[in-house]
Amino acid sequence: MSPFRLTRTLPEDATGAALRADVREGLSARPRTLPPKWFYDAHGSELFERITELPEYYPTRAEREILLTRSGEIAAASGARTLVELGSGSSEKTRHLLDALTGLRAYVPVDVSESALTRAGEALVAERPGLEVHALIADFTARLVLPETPGPRLVAFLGGTIGNLLPAERAGFLASVRALLAPGDALLLGTDLVKDEAALVRAYDDAAGVTAAFNKNVLTVIDRELGADFDPSAFDHVALWDAEHEWIEMRLRSREAQTVKIPALNLAVEFEAGEELRTEVSAKFRKEGVRAELSAAGLEMTRWWTDAEGRFALSLSVAR
Ligand SMILES: C[S@@+](CC[C@H](N)C(=O)[O-])C[C@H]1O[C@@H](n2cnc3c(N)ncnc32)[C@H](O)[C@@H]1O
Repeated sequence: MSPFRLTRTLPEDATGAALRADVREGLSARPRTLPPKWFYDAHGSELFERITELPEYYPTRAEREILLTRSGEIAAASGARTLVELGSGSSEKTRHLLDALTGLRAYVPVDVSESALTRAGEALVAERPGLEVHALIADFTARLVLPETPGPRLVAFLGGTIGNLLPAERAGFLASVRALLAPGDALLLGTDLVKDEAALVRAYDDAAGVTAAFNKNVLTVIDRELGADFDPSAFDHVALWDAEHEWIEMRLRSREAQTVKIPALNLAVEFEAGEELRTEVSAKFRKEGVRAELSAAGLEMTRWWTDAEGRFALSLSVAR
């Protein structure tokens, strides 16, 4: 069996320190916010996988359709010997790329979820003898130091996860991705597209309540890690379309006036009845907007593919 290596690039307790800082900052301010990366403990990663199978959640199926039909073209255009994947999760859809990239030597999945990386990495090395899998537990919004692996590199960022970053964060993120690319390397970016509001809201508010459970999981993470006394049942899941910013917001709405104690921060957070906590932004894109954001970061979009219904896009870019 080929090697599976898991490297923690974050110093000991960096995750705990980052969680404490994010929770203190996000819950001390009004409107209250939390960054979406804290959804993804082992349970949150499992819930996300269930979301990808829901009838309402079209992005995974749409992106898989593009990968199924275009992976050969992507492989021919990139000729990658290393595939780096940011926010790789289960690496399920990635298998279509791994099949098509015939000269591939190394796969470097990068995620904050250790459980997702371990499960995906162990399965991949068992399935694909000869492929070196070097997983990184890392925050893709921080400066990444990639392992020494053969070029050219294809850096993939799938799932529309880029939409979870606010516009200024996206600009910084894309500039840092640009800095990772050597001549001959490329970025493969998945972006969910602006569409009918009802279809968008349904995708984030499914009938079975899986997205609601995923949203509330962030409260369970804070209870466990910081000793807080959030009662997830005292909050309602909210998904709404912000037409001005062209993004979906997920929020948790306090059902009643309540005070939540967070002993690790020596903090008491007062929620009014109906007060909302924003837990995720998921921006939706248009082709010219994606091109402009890439260009501002020094990247030139060379290819653009959508699924047959035009719901989701994959683009390929190179450093200018
Ligand atoms: C929306 S899911 C997408 C998963 C997979 N790429 C897909 O397309 O199905 C986002 C993934 O990014 C990871 N993630 C979120 N924020 C992150 C961050 N700041 N740094 C590294 N990984 C992050 C999550 O753990 C999760 O696996």
